[in-house]
Amino acid sequence: MYYSSISIKSNKLFDYLTDLPYDTYNWTEHFGFDSVQLGLEWLEDEYALKAIHNIHPIKQMGVLKIPPFVNYNWHVDEFRQSCINMLISYDHISYCLFGKELNDYVTAITELKYKPYTYYLLNNQQLHTVINFDKPRYMFSLYFEEELEYKKLKQKLHPILT
Ligand SMILES: [Fe+2]
Repeated sequence: MYYSSISIKSNKLFDYLTDLPYDTYNWTEHFGFDSVQLGLEWLEDEYALKAIHNIHPIKQMGVLKIPPFVNYNWHVDEFRQSCINMLISYDHISYCLFGKELNDYVTAITELKYKPYTYYLLNNQQLHTVINFDKPRYMFSLYFEEELEYKKLKQKLHPILT
């Protein structure tokens, strides 16, 4: 209901993004995140993205940065129905949580425990939040050419989901 993992692991992009000199980049503001765009050549060089792109075309990709000690508030995305994410930062603690409000006081949480080299399909129309601790958090993310609700995209991507 919240997320699924992609069976094809990162062959190049995870290592590339892990080694990027992020301090030297020109970050631009994007829905409260700092972001940097990636070239579309990755749709050829990165096998998981190539497979995804062949099933449901990707429009734009990039890295999103969240500063240290920030909680990106509970929300559902304004524009995105679903997306593909891959966490780059494993040098500190951060949490990606999905939530279901049980009453005015309590939200039940489900953690997306990211694994290195692994892409996830996320349901952006369910409540979610990110809690980041003592270092900048870098996340690969993308936009599809056409927004599609999670359930339908999950069906389309079924051959490459675990
Ligand atoms: Fe979001």
